[in-house]
Amino acid sequence: MTTYNNLVLLGFSLILVLPFLSNAQLSDSFYTKTCPSVLDIVKSNVRSAINRDKRMGASLLRLFFHDCFVSGCDAGVLLDDNLPTIDSEKNARPNRNSIRGFELIDKIKDAVDKACPGPIVSCSDILAITARDSVVELGGPSWSVLLGRRDARTANRNDAENLPSPFADLPELIKNFSDKGFTAKEMVVLSGAHSVGVARCVLFRDHLYNGTNIENLVATARKSKCPSNGQDDNLSSMDHQSPNRFGNNYFQALVNRRGLLHSDQELFNGGSTDDMVRVYSKDSDKFYTDFANAMIKLGNVKPLTLAQGEIRKNCRKLN
Ligand code: HEM
Ligand SMILES: *[C@@H]1O[C@H](CO)[C@@H](O)[C@H](O)[C@H]1NC(C)=O
Ligand SMILES: *[C@@H]1O[C@H](CO)[C@@H](O)[C@H](O)[C@H]1NC(C)=O
Ligand SMILES: *[C@@H]1O[C@H](CO)[C@@H](O)[C@H](O)[C@H]1NC(C)=O
Repeated sequence: MTTYNNLVLLGFSLILVLPFLSNAQLSDSFYTKTCPSVLDIVKSNVRSAINRDKRMGASLLRLFFHDCFVSGCDAGVLLDDNLPTIDSEKNARPNRNSIRGFELIDKIKDAVDKACPGPIVSCSDILAITARDSVVELGGPSWSVLLGRRDARTANRNDAENLPSPFADLPELIKNFSDKGFTAKEMVVLSGAHSVGVARCVLFRDHLYNGTNIENLVATARKSKCPSNGQDDNLSSMDHQSPNRFGNNYFQALVNRRGLLHSDQELFNGGSTDDMVRVYSKDSDKFYTDFANAMIKLGNVKPLTLAQGEIRKNCRKLN
């Protein structure tokens, strides 16, 4: 067939297909034909990174949350500062000095692009896969990752400044999540991510020293690593018993008034979410099922598809 005929045929099929695609959905088979090796490449890289650095799984999970909660899952969080075009989300207060994993994402993107030149696979899809693989690697549930996102051509520093705060009370947390389309129950289950990873002293000092809802023994143990002033950046594990194991231990800790952040303990402090915390603390299977579903929903927050955005060559820069 001539090129002309091909073009006519292509144009004709687009006219037929476009109306159905205009509400494009993500799909778990998006790269089956164009990059069948992407899942294996990401998985093996995530596994070896976590073997080198146990915290990395937690960091990748958080990176995905901070991507999706700020203008949708569009890899906006990966863009480096490049004023006046890009005011990097990395410099927003909730991200500064704590969000990490960027070098690993670069490495994975290079490996994927080598296997599937184009580039074919977006940075936002790589983030979604690494979040799932991290949870699995840390002992948590698995789910089928939906793919087909494209990458933003802008960052949104202002929205990143408004990520949920560790000083927030329950109504504010519920509001923050409902603004993004999540129920209180989904907010609770997603918070189970805090069964892994660490936080800086400055973010929970007040909860330790002035909190009214923290168990004394735990507060004392935590204080030894977070003095009443100074050492703001010292890290403590969210879960001091099994910091690198994903599980419902987070909810058991909350029931025992051992939450590290004020915002964590707010989920079990006599309010409307107490029962959910109690259920998840007893039923690990239910936690895993609900967590997996909520992660899929998190990945569906305002993805760019079809002709929107671009497939970045370098996750840190616009093409
Ligand atoms: C409910 C509202 C939430 C608040 C207020 C919150 C707050 C925080 C804070 C203050 C830290 C420590 C940051 C630092 O030390 O600078 C943190 C770490 C973390 N967050 Fe959240 N978070 C929330 C929800 C989530 C969700 C929904 C996820 C994922 C699904 C998540 C995953 C994580 C992980 C894995 C870490 C540890 C990261 C690491 O060790 O590198 N968080 N969070
Ligand atoms: C969370 O709620 C606080 C207080 O209402 C608000 O300042 C902040 O912008 C909200 N953040 C999000 C992500 O909705
Ligand atoms: C505890 O609260 C008091 C009164 O609000 C404040 O002056 C003090 O700095 C707080 N202490 C810590 C360690 O946050
Ligand atoms: C804080 O971290 C520094 C550097 O790792 C360490 O030398 C110091 O002992 C820590 N302080 C506390 C109170 O744990």
